[in-house]
Amino acid sequence: MEATKNVLVTGGAGFIGSHLIRHLVQNYPNYRIINLDKLTYAGNLENLRDVENAPNYVFIKGDILDIQLLQNLFQEYQIDSVIHLAAESHVDRSISNPMQFIETNIVGTVTLLNAARTAWEGEYEGKRFYHVSTDEVYGTLGETGLFTEDTSYDPRSPYSASKASSDHLVRAYYHTFGMPVILSNCSNNYGPYQFPEKLLPLMINNIRHEKTLPVYGDGKYTRDWLWVGDHASAIDRVFHEGKDGETYNIGGNNEWKNIDLVHELCDLMDELLDRPAGSSRKLITFVKDRPGHDRRYAIDATKIKDELGWEPTVQAREGLRLTAKWYLDNTEWVERVTSGEYQKYYEQQYQQEAG
Ligand code: NAD
Ligand code: DAU
Repeated sequence: MEATKNVLVTGGAGFIGSHLIRHLVQNYPNYRIINLDKLTYAGNLENLRDVENAPNYVFIKGDILDIQLLQNLFQEYQIDSVIHLAAESHVDRSISNPMQFIETNIVGTVTLLNAARTAWEGEYEGKRFYHVSTDEVYGTLGETGLFTEDTSYDPRSPYSASKASSDHLVRAYYHTFGMPVILSNCSNNYGPYQFPEKLLPLMINNIRHEKTLPVYGDGKYTRDWLWVGDHASAIDRVFHEGKDGETYNIGGNNEWKNIDLVHELCDLMDELLDRPAGSSRKLITFVKDRPGHDRRYAIDATKIKDELGWEPTVQAREGLRLTAKWYLDNTEWVERVTSGEYQKYYEQQYQQEAG
């Protein structure tokens, strides 16, 4: 069967990317899904084992900064759509190594935009460049208020500044060159296959090993959590039904203060691990705060609901249980990704708590 779309997904071996690839491969047998991923520490082909032999799926190991490779891919696979997720994604790493974020998130995005522009030669009928971004570009909220698509950009970490910069560049290609771009800015995702440097999988892994649970600052920082499968379905909706040049905020309507979320997780883990109630909470340690730590993120997802009919489906407690169970059932995956380089990162990041 001839492919009705040739979709280049970048960063498809990462956390969100792997859920998106699985969703697209399974739901669109008539599309060809080309996954371009450099396989950094955060990319893992194990995440895609169940779809790796699907006839509508191709994996290419490569860098979005490699101009020649991109040109070849656009030509060989007649790419008509790009869903761009490849990025350095961890705020703490952006504080210790900002340059990598500038290169991948900013220069990498422009390199990809240029490759699409060159390949499509102004023939934009049936083409789409979808940039997947974050709510962190909006900066931080106080106790009240929500981020809308009109909230001014105010990024405060090297990670969020690099994502903000890439968003501006994507929009510039729409206004200046007429490229058919579309963007979405999403809140914190959680679920299976998230690298255990991020809050929830890190805490789950530490509880399992009875290691301390490092909560930054006073623990009253707030995030809006979205089940990763709901993000994949939102990307599908925006990709197919969103309008060129538009931005859609995606969120879970699910705000938690970090310490409340960690408490909830501790109690759940005690139950799942059959440990006495209260044992995991005893592991909580308040540690030095993240520099420039944004106090609160929360998304107003009215636009995507009203215009595209998308809403999150997985409730917080259900999602947390599914996530904790997945990590407990997949300890080999966790052991593999946390061995080697990650041990060094962990020791540096949590100097006082390592061990
Ligand atoms: P991740 O770190 O798990 O995965 C990133 C993927 O990109 C990895 O597979 C990595 O190998 C690949 N990659 C990195 N540099 C590359 C390069 N130069 N060339 C090709 N591939 C490269 O990230 P994630 O959490 O899945 O996030 C995916 C995207 O979604 C990012 O753009 C991120 O900014 C955005 N986002 C993430 C969240 C979240 O909560 N995780 C929320 C909103 C938006
Ligand atoms: O909001 C979307 C963003 O969510 C994405 O763009 C990022 O790619 C993703 O990493 C995530 O960023 P956060 O910085 O919010 O996620 P993280 O899991 O690193 O931290 C969540 C909160 O938990 C944050 O307030 C910091 C805190 N934290 C984190 C870690 C790793 C701790 O208290 N202790 C920790 O050890």
